[in-house]
Amino acid sequence: MAKARSRYVCRDCGHEALAWSGQCAGCGEWNTLDEVIVQATAKRGSSGGSGRRAAAAVRSVPLRDVVAPREERLGTGIGELDRVLGGGLVPGSLVLLGGSPGIGKSTITAMALGNMVSAGRQALYITGEESAAQVRMRAERLGAGALDVPALAETDLETVAGAIEAERPDVCVVDSVQTLHRAELSSAPGSVAQVREAANTLMEVAKRNGTALVLVGHVTKEGAVAGPRVLEHLVDCVLLFEGERERSYRTLRALKNRFGATSELGVFEMRSGGLVEVEDPSARFVGEATAAAGSVVLCAMEGTRPLLVEVQALVAPTEVVPPRRVANGIDRNRLAMILAVLSRHGGVQVGSADVFVNVAGGVRVDEPGADLAIALAVASAQRGEPLSDDAGKPLACFGEVGLTGELRYVAHAERRVAEALKFGLSPVLGPRIKDAPAGLAMNATLRAALGSARQRVGAPVAQAA
Ligand code: TYD
Ligand code: MG
Repeated sequence: MAKARSRYVCRDCGHEALAWSGQCAGCGEWNTLDEVIVQATAKRGSSGGSGRRAAAAVRSVPLRDVVAPREERLGTGIGELDRVLGGGLVPGSLVLLGGSPGIGKSTITAMALGNMVSAGRQALYITGEESAAQVRMRAERLGAGALDVPALAETDLETVAGAIEAERPDVCVVDSVQTLHRAELSSAPGSVAQVREAANTLMEVAKRNGTALVLVGHVTKEGAVAGPRVLEHLVDCVLLFEGERERSYRTLRALKNRFGATSELGVFEMRSGGLVEVEDPSARFVGEATAAAGSVVLCAMEGTRPLLVEVQALVAPTEVVPPRRVANGIDRNRLAMILAVLSRHGGVQVGSADVFVNVAGGVRVDEPGADLAIALAVASAQRGEPLSDDAGKPLACFGEVGLTGELRYVAHAERRVAEALKFGLSPVLGPRIKDAPAGLAMNATLRAALGSARQRVGAPVAQAA
């Protein structure tokens, strides 16, 4: 007979304890233990103590002989979403979709379900956050298919599990996992214990019925999806929906994917009729780039795809001590490092001025290849010299900046350069590379790159005059 027992699990490190205590014995953090229910079966209890029980002999098999069924994929009808997923949803898999409130999680899931229902799939939309009427109002904006999606407004975990069991849909969205609760657990909905319990219970039901389950989750202040790291371990795929709520661009990326590559990026735009895929984001971002001082185009790589984004900097005098260093879309520590290298090896002093750096469009670039673009944007802003050419085309660049002021190689140079050439941005400033692609202006150091960038703006002409 199965009986329910409580355990206490640390939301930071996952350490389990039998009794509650203020401090976690695993990681030493305070107030991180949450209650979870475990099903202790009589069989499990008797297996301890008297040594190993005789088990039926099992044999290992070389992986070559393991029968792996060809993975079927459920297309969501949203190309960018399918690409980030690695080719669509895998039946029976568990996907966690995270993002801050208002970013468009409900919209993208409603659109995907609508498309799938139109394609003859069975779908189920569980809404715990909004009433069915609210979901309907959104669906009305999203077109015909979205209105055909069966919806259930429910927050009781057992009822939700029962509904999946009864309907056995191909795909089920739970919006959001933080609203589900199980009555036996004393903790509030959204607590680690409840979220973990919900994910475990639903995963079991979904796997058994071959349902692809999408759990929508909020992001905590620290950026973790659904709070507990335990959930990120449990699921097959973690997707993060990012962007600035005030801006229309949204980016979708996989932080973890058991069925495909991570760091693939999907770009969307929020319009009045839902999310629209931006199929050629480089064209958008380059088209919107300004020719003003402090602007430069970065040839970034997002997964397997090159992406041109505008990096902007502003250097402004300030009375504030210490001066502000504000980074949007790049790492703050990276900016501090680049400012130090600029000062020490590039002859560009920002001194006591405020420095703001922003990646336009609300995109995040987390790769060292962005260093040179940040450095050039700051130098250009500091000197008040635009880096665009006479025709107003922005300067494109990429490369990692080392602590000794050298420019370092980054992967996929050819693809970055090719993407820039596609938009007529040439030459591209970058590091020294063996077998350099045509169109790349190679520079060994940051100082050299700063020089090349200035020459391009017509310095030689000025010298001749
Ligand atoms: P929503 O999907 O509800 O966000 P989340 O579930 O992540 O909290 O969408 C949030 C915003 O998107 C909301 O402010 C309204 C806007 N929106 C549009 O601009 N166009 C649309 O077609 C829809 C459905 C929403
Ligand atoms: Mg929502």
